[in-house]
Amino acid sequence: MQIKGKWTPPLFQLKQVTKYYRISLSSTITVLKEVSIHVDKGSLITIIGPSGAGKSTLLSLLNRLEDADGGEIYFQEKEIKLWDVLELRRQVGLVFQIPVMLPGTVKDNLLYGPGLRGQTPATSAADIIKMVGLEEKILERNSSNLSGGQKQRVALARTIANGSRILLLDEITSSLDHESAMSIENLIINLNKEHGYTCLWVTHDRLQAQRVSPYSWSLHDGKIELIANNKEE
Ligand SMILES: Nc1ncnc2c1ncn2[C@@H]1O[C@H](COP(=O)(O)OP(=O)(O)O)[C@@H](O)[C@H]1O
Ligand SMILES: [Mg+2]
Repeated sequence: MQIKGKWTPPLFQLKQVTKYYRISLSSTITVLKEVSIHVDKGSLITIIGPSGAGKSTLLSLLNRLEDADGGEIYFQEKEIKLWDVLELRRQVGLVFQIPVMLPGTVKDNLLYGPGLRGQTPATSAADIIKMVGLEEKILERNSSNLSGGQKQRVALARTIANGSRILLLDEITSSLDHESAMSIENLIINLNKEHGYTCLWVTHDRLQAQRVSPYSWSLHDGKIELIANNKEE
């Protein structure tokens, strides 16, 4: 990427990455076939494709929930396997379709990750909870009693509190009603545009992809194709 004449290396670079799963003693399925892509810092990329195409697998390679079977993956110019995996996962946070709340209050959820490292979040819990569009007083509420949309915001806030600047979002609005989904959608756009978060966003909703990003990665038959979204500016 070119910023004011200065070349910035990509955050992620995948070179001819192959991933397969063994599904029985005698057979494997190849989910990614020699995929070469890169992710620039500050980008918002949507990833679309039919169910089973390998979208979740692709995300899981980027914080090493899975490892590739062929090719090379670099994170910030260093081979991903050379990173301390906890540090990698701190920087690269994964948010799932169904938000899982840790026991306790919303604040407990936000303090959990940094607490494991004996730290407090660099940004206060109050500021982070406001960043995801919730009121400060929700910090004292028991996280198990929240609505689906609120839980998804808390899951995002927890990832942010943990220090992740790169968000891997796996169908995060799929289990929400339309109104909550739209407001989470706007939140992600805001995190990207106003706060500089890099987002890789898997969605099965083609219209959502068109609304939020100028182009998408379309995953099909193990290959990724870059497709332009016709978006009105
Ligand atoms: N741990 C695993 N073991 C075996 N097969 C798997 C595993 N994880 C995913 N798969 C298979 O790999 C393919 C891609 O899965 P996935 O990445 O979850 O697709 P998507 O997220 O696009 O729906 C599917 O056929 C799925 O069944
Ligand atoms: Mg999936």
